[in-house]
Amino acid sequence: MAQVTIIEPSSPDELDRYYQLRWKILRAPWNRPPGSERDPLDKRSTHVMAVTSAHELLGVGRLHFNSISEGQVRYMAVAIDHQRSGIGTLILETLETRARQLGAASIVLDARETAIGFYRKRGYQPTGPGHMLFRQIAHVHMCKRIS
Ligand SMILES: CC(C)(COP(=O)(O)OP(=O)(O)OC[C@H]1O[C@@H](n2cnc3c(N)ncnc32)[C@H](O)[C@@H]1OP(=O)(O)O)[C@@H](O)C(=O)NCCC(=O)NCCS
Repeated sequence: MAQVTIIEPSSPDELDRYYQLRWKILRAPWNRPPGSERDPLDKRSTHVMAVTSAHELLGVGRLHFNSISEGQVRYMAVAIDHQRSGIGTLILETLETRARQLGAASIVLDARETAIGFYRKRGYQPTGPGHMLFRQIAHVHMCKRIS
């Protein structure tokens, strides 16, 4: 695979592509319209995206804070053709490093049931049932101490 770099999207074009991939992986399969992939916390979150040297976008993820010591990861999405090749791990590690730098002692997230195995491998433990998205995607609360 071409060399992969993690960047924080900043230009309008990067941000556009960032949200498009989030929508394509996490919303389009459930017939949700463009725009449904965003929420008000986007304005005060850290966003990262994995890109190749040829500017291909491979994956995205977001970190926001619930309190001064608790970070939350949301919207992890890797392009279908690149799943299971280490991109999600790279994005999550970057968000964890950023959370630590910003003072987080732990990270929480709501994992889709299909992704629990991925987060377990990264040291997250289930802490209870989460919400049901679109009445069909069950989630599980997970937590990891990072300090
Ligand atoms: C879940 C997701 C972010 C993981 O990213 P990825 O790039 O595919 O994962 P990686 O290649 O970094 O996988 C790391 C490890 O987790 C494992 N893994 C990845 N996805 C997994 C899954 N769904 N279930 C169980 N294990 C999984 C891999 O086998 C790998 O194990 P290894 O290190 O022993 O080889 C990605 O597959 C994805 O976008 N899925 C669809 C959207 C989604 O479910 N997002 C999460 C919402 S909570």
